[in-house]
Amino acid sequence: MSEGLLELARTVGLEAAAFVKASRPAGRVEVADTKSSPTDVVTQIDRASEELIRARIKSARPDDGFVGEEGADLIGTSGIDWVVDPIDGTVNFVYGIPTYAVSIAARQDGVVVVGYVVNIASGAEWGAIRGAGSWRYEGSERITLAAPAVARVDHALVATGFNYVPEVRTKQAEAMARFLPHIRDIRRTGSAALDLCGLAEGHFDAYVEQGLKEWDLAAGGLVASESGLLLSGLDGVPNERLVMVAHPSIAEEYFALVRACGF
Ligand code: IPD
Repeated sequence: MSEGLLELARTVGLEAAAFVKASRPAGRVEVADTKSSPTDVVTQIDRASEELIRARIKSARPDDGFVGEEGADLIGTSGIDWVVDPIDGTVNFVYGIPTYAVSIAARQDGVVVVGYVVNIASGAEWGAIRGAGSWRYEGSERITLAAPAVARVDHALVATGFNYVPEVRTKQAEAMARFLPHIRDIRRTGSAALDLCGLAEGHFDAYVEQGLKEWDLAAGGLVASESGLLLSGLDGVPNERLVMVAHPSIAEEYFALVRACGF
C-alpha cells in the first residue's frame, strides 16, 4: 500500500510544484497575510497550492484525512491522513531564493509511512517509505540515501531554523549563542523539509529546531530517518517543542549538547 501512497504523493507533488513555479511572478511575491507573527507570511500561491493538493488527494482517496499548513483539516475514516506543506520555505519563495519545496507525507494510524519532498525551483526530489529506505529520484531511478557518519560533534555542520514567534526566537538565540562555539558552523536555509533531505544527502551533519509544525517535519523527517539518522526531542520524541537530528555516530553526545545549551 505504501508504494501506492508514495506514487500519489509524487504525482500530486510534481503537479503542485509545476503550478507554484508557473504562478510565481518575477521579482518579489506579494504577501497575502501574516499568521503567528508579522514575520510568518503566506501568499495566495501557498493557498492555491494547498487547495490543488487537497483536491487531487480527495479525488483519488476520498476517505482519507488531510492536514495542511494553510488550514485544510479533514477528518478521514480510512486510517490514512495526509500531512502537507504546499510551500515549505515561503519566505524564500517571496524573495526568490530558490530553496522552497512541496512536502507531502502520509500517516497510517498516526505513524508517518510515506514522505515526498520536491524542491520547486530546482526540481530535485526525495522519497521515503518507512522500513524500506529513502532516496533521491533521478527521473524514474531511485538513488538510495545513507547519511554519512561524523567523527566529532565539534566538526558537525548543523542546519537550523528559527520560529516566527518573537519570545521563542529570543530563547533560540540565547541557546544558539551557547551552542555555536561547540560545532563547526550553522546553516539556515529557510526550508525545514529541504534541511532534512539535505541531512540525508550528507550536506549537513546534524539539525536542531524549535517550533516545527507537523507539516514541516513529516515528509523530510522520514527521508532523514530512513537514511539512518536518529531524530529526537524532549523525552526522545521529535515534536514542536524540539527536533534534534544526528547520525548515530555522534547522536548521544550531540543530543546532550543541544539540551545542555538550553534548546
Ligand atoms: C518554515 C520553514 C523554515 C522553518 C520554519 C517553518 P514555512 O516553513 O520550514 O525553515 O525554520 O519553522 O515554519 O512557513 O515556510 O512553510
